[in-house]
Amino acid sequence: MADDATVPDLSVEFAGIKLSNPLLLASGIADETGASMARAVKEGAGGVVTKSLSIQPRQGHPNPCIVEVEGGLINAMGLPNPGIEGFREEIEHYKKKTRGRAPIIASVFGSSIEEYVEASTLAEGLGVDGLELNGSCPNAKGLGLQFGQDPVVIIELVREVKARTTLPVLFKLTPNTHDIVTLARAVQEGGADGIVAINTLQAMKIDIMTARPVLTNTTGGLSGPAIRPVGVRCVFEMARAPDIRIPIMGVGGISTWEDVIEYMMAGATAVQVGTSISWGNLNVFGEMKKGLRAFLMGTGRRSIKDITGLAAGVGH
Ligand SMILES: Cc1cc2nc3c(=O)[nH]c(=O)nc-3n(C[C@H](O)[C@H](O)[C@H](O)COP(=O)(O)O)c2cc1C
Repeated sequence: MADDATVPDLSVEFAGIKLSNPLLLASGIADETGASMARAVKEGAGGVVTKSLSIQPRQGHPNPCIVEVEGGLINAMGLPNPGIEGFREEIEHYKKKTRGRAPIIASVFGSSIEEYVEASTLAEGLGVDGLELNGSCPNAKGLGLQFGQDPVVIIELVREVKARTTLPVLFKLTPNTHDIVTLARAVQEGGADGIVAINTLQAMKIDIMTARPVLTNTTGGLSGPAIRPVGVRCVFEMARAPDIRIPIMGVGGISTWEDVIEYMMAGATAVQVGTSISWGNLNVFGEMKKGLRAFLMGTGRRSIKDITGLAAGVGH
């Protein structure tokens, strides 16, 4: 509860991670450096997620790897990153700048369960506050499936990471599935501390003058306002499932405080903001906080926690 009873309390706790407000910077946007992540906090973010990191550095796909479409972006960056060790200095810089005010969660991925586990233990060694397993990576053994599309693989992956690490472990789900609730159950059964949903939706754009796909990778992932109704539906379905008890972090197309409230009413305890940052500026965090406080005051509520699950009939 806030000291001043007239000021609504925006703080939340997510899977044991304490946040001064429920707004986090999403993985892969404005998180190239410690300085840019620290700027998001200065502008009002309650926490940040790093770009997805692998054991070894990765180049990513050649340009063009991003294209603007109605209501969003399609990107096929190919997870470029300097490797976990190569990101150590950025995390140290971030921590020096923010002095514990806003937790940092490391997003990790690999091309096998063993690589995910090693990436997770290495990331824990960077002194982060939590791990986010990016399930949207092709599984070499998975007959074209991604790690996060196969409930049997999810259970084993999360179990192995939990057995070798001590940090809160979140699993980021893909919406590219016919049944996200089954995937969420697998995340919980594996022992994860929280769910993050959603990653981007598979999409493509064709240049009609050349009759060629615009992206060198042919297809990519759609993000931005166009995917918000999909994300809200996914969060709602998981939150409404009575056997899913771990908290959910909503992400996908959030650009205003109203969008935050919508995701929280669907069942999210906290949210992440991506594409709207890459369009506008990091100031959206400050604007959202103002809007959330005004909404709580206008509806006679003292805490943002009271919003979670209102539309799903549950509270996490
Ligand atoms: C340019 C770009 C890069 C991204 N990189 C990552 C990444 O490295 N790891 C990840 O888990 N998600 C990544 N995402 C997905 C976002 O974190 C987020 O799940 C998705 O974009 C939906 O949220 P939004 O509509 O607010 O952007 C990326 C998205 C964009 C647009």
